[in-house]
Amino acid sequence: MLPSRTDIIAVVKADGYGHGCLTMAQTLSQLGIQHFGVATVQEGILLRSSGLAGTILVMGGILSSQCQALIEANLTPAISDADAAHALSQRVSRQRCPYPIHIKLDTGMRRLGFAPEEASVLLQSPMFSHTLSCQGFMTHLADAENTDHTFTIQQLDRFAHAIPKLRAAGTPVPRLHAANTAGILWHPQAWLDMVRPGLLLYGYTPAPDKPIPVSLQQVMTLTTRVVHIKTVGKDEPVSYGGSYRTRRHSRLAVLPIGYTHGYNRRISNRGAVIIHDQRCPIVGRICMDMMVVDVTDAPGTKPGDQVIVLGQSKTQNISAWDLADWQDSIPYEVLCNLGSHAQRVYAPLTDSLPG
Ligand SMILES: Cc1ncc(COP(=O)(O)O)c(C=O)c1O
Repeated sequence: MLPSRTDIIAVVKADGYGHGCLTMAQTLSQLGIQHFGVATVQEGILLRSSGLAGTILVMGGILSSQCQALIEANLTPAISDADAAHALSQRVSRQRCPYPIHIKLDTGMRRLGFAPEEASVLLQSPMFSHTLSCQGFMTHLADAENTDHTFTIQQLDRFAHAIPKLRAAGTPVPRLHAANTAGILWHPQAWLDMVRPGLLLYGYTPAPDKPIPVSLQQVMTLTTRVVHIKTVGKDEPVSYGGSYRTRRHSRLAVLPIGYTHGYNRRISNRGAVIIHDQRCPIVGRICMDMMVVDVTDAPGTKPGDQVIVLGQSKTQNISAWDLADWQDSIPYEVLCNLGSHAQRVYAPLTDSLPG
């Protein structure tokens, strides 16, 4: 989709949205990605110490106490306040001068970032002719998945207006970036010099009902196995508190997954899993490390059978959006929670796309 002048900063923070920061970054690096976005200095150190080359942009803010470690790992901070810039400048040694940073502008997210006028004051500081080199101006879009584009257009306008003033403050021409997944999918005017996809890399759109210009394939599948089968009569309570009562003579399967594995308890009595290509409803409350599903309509189910918690079978699919809807959340949270607890196995994706 992107023009060749637009580079990709692959966002692999939060342990690669639960997919494994290191493997994601290494795989993307083999595909030619040269820039990576993390939230914390610790995540950056993990990537660098495992031999990852390229820019590692620390996007979540840095403390003065982290500057030394940041420099040693050759990480590039997104700077959002003058104190951090001064602390970094003081620690940069002659050999590392000038040290690369990106400057973040707040154009409406009201989280991290300078007001544009603060940034131009900072850029006039002597630090920028000696120790620090601003290589990027960035901002973050707060509402780019909204069908109403007003706020995003306003943010992009504020960003565009700020840049000439910042350049006039004496900075060479740093690269500009603003677009997250939603910016990439629905706001081509936000592509600029670099884009920062996160969710998109893992096969999801942040607004499943909006058309998208690319095909996506879900990267993560989560499976478990049936550990026990039980047959119970009609009108029997199931699991803690008896919040579900059987409506018929039922076969129930116990699965060894619960909220300790990141499977949200709010999904109790709402969600489903796939067994033998059948959707089997979750019955009763999800426990700490177990849950119960009704397999009456998946005959032949036995201990050891594979259960798809997230992913697709021949005719069925449970996506992170389904899990998100069942727990009043978003796929970001679902992927982070489920992925960070499971044992991971990496395999090539098949060519077929989910229906
Ligand atoms: C600064 C920044 N850029 C890009 C992203 C990626 O966002 P998305 O996963 O929506 O693409 C994030 C994630 O929250 C972020 O904080």
